[in-house]
Amino acid sequence: MFLVTGATGDLGRRIVRLLCDRQKPVRSFVRLTSRYGELEYRGSEIFIGDLQQDKDIHKACQGVKYIISAHGGNGNPAAVDYRSNIELIDRAKEFGVEHFVFISVLGADRGYEDAPTFKAKREVEKYLQASGLNYTILRPSGFASNVLTLAERFRETGIYLLVGDPKNRASIVSTDDLARIAVESVDLPGAKNQIFPVGGPEILERREIPQIFGKIFDQEPFVVNIPLFMFDGVRSAIGLVNPFAKDSLGTLRVLLGNEFFCTSDEIANLESIFNFKLETLEMFLRRYLGV
Ligand SMILES: NC(=O)c1ccc[n+]([C@@H]2O[C@H](COP(=O)([O-])OP(=O)(O)OC[C@H]3O[C@@H](n4cnc5c(N)ncnc54)[C@H](OP(=O)(O)O)[C@@H]3O)[C@@H](O)[C@H]2O)c1
Repeated sequence: MFLVTGATGDLGRRIVRLLCDRQKPVRSFVRLTSRYGELEYRGSEIFIGDLQQDKDIHKACQGVKYIISAHGGNGNPAAVDYRSNIELIDRAKEFGVEHFVFISVLGADRGYEDAPTFKAKREVEKYLQASGLNYTILRPSGFASNVLTLAERFRETGIYLLVGDPKNRASIVSTDDLARIAVESVDLPGAKNQIFPVGGPEILERREIPQIFGKIFDQEPFVVNIPLFMFDGVRSAIGLVNPFAKDSLGTLRVLLGNEFFCTSDEIANLESIFNFKLETLEMFLRRYLGV
């Protein structure tokens, strides 16, 4: 039995779909308010709970052989990105889980002080490494499925909003490839007790993304570039009325202000260990958009 947390998220639902397609027993950890009907329809067991409740995690882990931790977000990194994963790891030890896959983030080890999610991910990585469990830590760059939403907006308006330096580089990963890597990590000897940066096969400057949209939709992009100082100004203004919101924008600020890409050696290593070719952002978008 696989336990997948964040099973209704962009990545988590792809992991569950893949496991169901491969006839693997899977338990999806979901909230009652989440959209989980599709997962149940595909054959996943549904566990209703809240990752902020230790007793729910305890129950969900019973009888589980593998855990894939793919949840996150929601503006409460201390509870959701950190605490819940520590609890999952402790219960994994208690119940003799054979392999734990943790979805971290590219750059988790760069020591960004202003980014609570990055800090939480790094602390969970360290805790998992010291736990004695078999593990694989995946550090993905930005997901192609995020870009899909932007592409759909671009199709309607022709406008692309680019915040920060257009020359910043990123290697956007196909969310489907990442799901496959997460699933296959549990029994590939080369993935045991490893940390992998996971990106797409190409390094893109951010200004190339609207160009890809333009090519796909045969439409000249209208790029609106918002400099980072404007983002910082808005963030500071928000901080005057809501210091908590300002803090939680720290992770976004780090994402906007820095480069997140994998080297060609890192990509070659991934492709060799997992034995498949990673898809480009353009391939991913064309596949989903049917263009
Ligand atoms: N998106 C990216 O570009 C990116 C890049 C690098 C790393 N990552 C990491 O990759 C992982 C997956 O990201 P994603 O974009 O697929 O996430 P997502 O779409 O934002 O989904 C987050 C998931 O976590 C669940 N969740 C949040 N709080 C919960 C709680 N208290 N109890 C139970 N479930 C809870 C959500 O459930 P609901 O449906 O109920 O909200 C949802 O299923 C995360 O760890 C993220 O940090 C993402």
